[in-house]
Amino acid sequence: MTDPIIQLKNVHKTFQIANQQVHALRGVDLSLKRGQLVGVTGRSGSGKSTLLHVIGTLDTPSSGIVYLNGRDVSNLTDKDASTFRNRTVGFVFQMNNLLPEFSALENVIMPGLIAGLGRDALHKRAEALLNAVDLGHRLEHRPAELSGGEQQRVAIARALLMEPPILLCDEPTGNLDKKNGERVEEILVELSRRTQVTMLLVTHDIELAKRLPYQVVMEDGNIVDYGGSW
Ligand SMILES: Nc1ncnc2c1ncn2[C@@H]1O[C@H](COP(=O)(O)OP(=O)(O)OP(=O)(O)O)[C@@H](O)[C@H]1O
Ligand SMILES: [Mg+2]
Repeated sequence: MTDPIIQLKNVHKTFQIANQQVHALRGVDLSLKRGQLVGVTGRSGSGKSTLLHVIGTLDTPSSGIVYLNGRDVSNLTDKDASTFRNRTVGFVFQMNNLLPEFSALENVIMPGLIAGLGRDALHKRAEALLNAVDLGHRLEHRPAELSGGEQQRVAIARALLMEPPILLCDEPTGNLDKKNGERVEEILVELSRRTQVTMLLVTHDIELAKRLPYQVVMEDGNIVDYGGSW
């Protein structure tokens, strides 16, 4: 039970652009347990998004090891990574990437269809999630027919459909005005608590990071400070 759900050991990520090397991560160690909610802050370019990509198996580390749920995911093939991700990690990005041709409900059930689950059960689950993000009255609306805050709430419901143990959020309120941003934050924190998901939330908003029980601060590819009782 107390085994870490996310564990990084000396993780480096180096990008080679022409003849220049960019060290985006420089030996990150991190260990998170089930249900931990962590705000990630740090200057632009400090490696926050890269950290989330490596944890979420969207990118592989140049060296070091990433364990998710006890499994070494540092070197999965693209195909294995996408199967693994579908069940294990939910993402909410600044740009919600909702499919414009599909309704809110259909967008939310999409990860379930990809996993080969039956439509009826998925519909029920998606409706419950859309109710939980206060969008029970917008099931048939397409993304363009929703406000920015509503679109982000659809993205949150989609991220949680597969009941993943891990939720990764990169500036989820970055494109929203204060009021909508606060509503999205509230919903994220409440749903993460309720589902016992382990969440990393990248934000420039120190106040938002402090609303979570744990914080890490990144600088130049490393975690340089911790907040909360680690
Ligand atoms: N695909 C890539 N190719 C080359 N360099 C990259 C790539 N992705 C990120 N970098 C570089 O790695 C460093 C860390 O980038 P990252 O996107 O992780 O920063 P960040 O902390 O998320 O910044 P921001 O707050 O602006 O989103 C930056 O110097 C960036 O230019
Ligand atoms: Mg970023």
